[in-house]
Amino acid sequence: MGIDPGLSGVPETALWTLYHRTRESRRPDTVLPDSVALRLIAEFDYPFEARFGGGFPAQAQTMALRARVFDDEVRRFLADHPGGTVVALGEGLETTFWRVADPTVRWLTVDVPQMAELRLRLLPHGDRQRVHAGSALDVSWMDEVDPSAGVLVTAQGLLMYFQPEQAEGLIAAVAGRFPGGRMVFDAITPLVSSQVVSQLRGGGAFEPPALHWFLSAADLARLPALHPAISGVSEAHVRPGRGLTGWLAPRLRHVPILGRQRPLVVVLDF
Ligand SMILES: C[S@@+](CC[C@H](N)C(=O)[O-])C[C@H]1O[C@@H](n2cnc3c(N)ncnc32)[C@H](O)[C@@H]1O
Repeated sequence: MGIDPGLSGVPETALWTLYHRTRESRRPDTVLPDSVALRLIAEFDYPFEARFGGGFPAQAQTMALRARVFDDEVRRFLADHPGGTVVALGEGLETTFWRVADPTVRWLTVDVPQMAELRLRLLPHGDRQRVHAGSALDVSWMDEVDPSAGVLVTAQGLLMYFQPEQAEGLIAAVAGRFPGGRMVFDAITPLVSSQVVSQLRGGGAFEPPALHWFLSAADLARLPALHPAISGVSEAHVRPGRGLTGWLAPRLRHVPILGRQRPLVVVLDF
């Protein structure tokens, strides 16, 4: 008998992203091999397809490419900061730690208690990993971070669920607390959000939680105003994937009109 994850609301969305990443990982020509995620999803007694539907064409690859961009940012950070600390806010059931497989990294997961508990129960945890059970908005997690070898804070699929003042307040708090550090997060525009929501509503029984914080490429220029320590704003490098979707992913920014709506993975240097 598998495990009933017992999740709802925003925490349940971690099953949605896990579902699509593993759909992609099962392919022989996958852009994101992930044996740990495949073992993990097999633990659940949960109607993934009935809840989330099949997704739009190429959704699995699209989500996997987003995850790979975060993996690459973690690798890039560790190449410059061996033994550095990665703080994964709202990490859910992500398995970046094992995909990146860096022998020196120190890793702190921050997620709400019900997710933190599930993660601790289902994923292996070694000496270099810690889990903070609490909201990312309660910045007491920062006290658990040793910044001496460098800090990278990631927030994949998280900030859009916060109110604008919460999301931007969190970015400012991270900037103020970790000078010399870096933060990587993703964001979408209201138009993309409404498309994803209607696709989810049409495809399965899951009622997606509301998104509140949006960002378009045109908004990037205002990010340094959030905190004086923000010294650099850039978009993460996207490697090509498979087929047309994979070809388009790194080129989206150059596509007229559509490019302005592109989902962003933003890198902030402090
Ligand atoms: C869309 S899932 C993303 C999970 C994972 N990062 C991924 O990309 O697959 C959103 C995650 O945010 C977590 N979350 C929701 N509210 C949070 C909060 N206030 N602080 C920390 N994590 C939160 C949820 O439990 C869930 O794991």
